[in-house]
Amino acid sequence: MPVLHTPLCDLLGIRYPILLAGMGTLRGRPTPPRLVAAVSNAGGLGVMGATSLSPEEIRQRIRQVRQLPDKPFGVDLLLPVSLAEAGTARVTTRRQALAWIQREYPRHYAFVQSLMRELNLPPVEHTDDEPLRVERVRQQVQVVLDEKVPVFAAGLGDPAWVVPLAREAGIKVIGLAGSVRNALRQKQAGVDIIVAQGYEAGGHTGRIATFPLVPQVVDAVAPTPVLAAGGIADGRAVAAALALGAQGVWVGTAFLVAKESDLYPQMQEAILQASSEEFVISRAYSGKTARTLRNPITEAWERSGLEPLPMPLQGLLMADLLESAERAGRYELLFNAAGQIGGMLKERKSAQQIMDDLVQGAVEVLENLPTRITYRRG
Ligand SMILES: Cc1cc2nc3c(=O)[nH]c(=O)nc-3n(C[C@H](O)[C@H](O)[C@H](O)COP(=O)(O)O)c2cc1C
Repeated sequence: MPVLHTPLCDLLGIRYPILLAGMGTLRGRPTPPRLVAAVSNAGGLGVMGATSLSPEEIRQRIRQVRQLPDKPFGVDLLLPVSLAEAGTARVTTRRQALAWIQREYPRHYAFVQSLMRELNLPPVEHTDDEPLRVERVRQQVQVVLDEKVPVFAAGLGDPAWVVPLAREAGIKVIGLAGSVRNALRQKQAGVDIIVAQGYEAGGHTGRIATFPLVPQVVDAVAPTPVLAAGGIADGRAVAAALALGAQGVWVGTAFLVAKESDLYPQMQEAILQASSEEFVISRAYSGKTARTLRNPITEAWERSGLEPLPMPLQGLLMADLLESAERAGRYELLFNAAGQIGGMLKERKSAQQIMDDLVQGAVEVLENLPTRITYRRG
């Protein structure tokens, strides 16, 4: 069995410093318990993206992961920038929110209505008063605390209020950062591990690429351990991340196309067929910049000349269109968040195989470097 060990492995109780990134976007359903467990069983740390799940679903899924062999794992949630701020729309249901958006942003509302007609998507009837997601964040976090999940990852927002609660429950906290400033904020909040996530990453992302970001974050937050994220899908990138000073890697897109992923097969296939240029930055789905596979929706928003609304309003504005598209099996219209490294991925592999390739590949690179390069101190 290969050995690839950093102090992070001891901190988390894992064999290899490779984590399945939290991926919890609304309709892709990318991290089912079997994928989380497969990564943990292969010696890494499986992290479940749970942001779109109800508190009860999160509890059930945590218990499902636990039924699989007993290994550490984590749960990732997107926290609003602040709960008070997220509540400023003064509405509590989807129906109220849409009516409010229609009143406040009539051009955006009309654009989405016309887009639905253009794409032949039938309107969605609102039969219930479904509560807004932001109302649920505290309950979602509470489930993670109650269940004493070994690791909690905070994707967006300020985890300062979670850290003391997690510490009390014996839970390690990971915070994501796309800039040195955010990394310092995470450190100040008291997180145990910081993910430096580069611009090339899939999903919500900042503006600084992995290579310039990782060493700067490593220096700024030392001795807090850093995980590199964005563009990592083979052993070469793992070795490079370790060379940049990271203690491990946080891998999203490569696991998104794993055999155990729940992402619709049509969306997986689209990623496997695409080249790196096609993974673009768009605010069309959530209102925050996110890297996603270019499609008729991202293009329509680009052509519209309209600025998408801020989070969480854009997500609410687009919710009916996406629900209608999903019901009609129009997967090419859904939010297919994925990173630039998608251009390198050509086949679906099991999570175990992905882990083996990452570990074995990194060990080979580290072993071979001295044979390929001549060097000595001057
Ligand atoms: C489909 C998808 C969904 C994501 N959802 C989340 C999320 O819910 N929370 C989060 O912290 N990060 C999320 N991310 C970002 C990942 O955690 C990670 O930082 C990123 O995938 C790493 O870059 P890579 O895709 O190049 O490996 C998502 C990424 C993808 C591809």
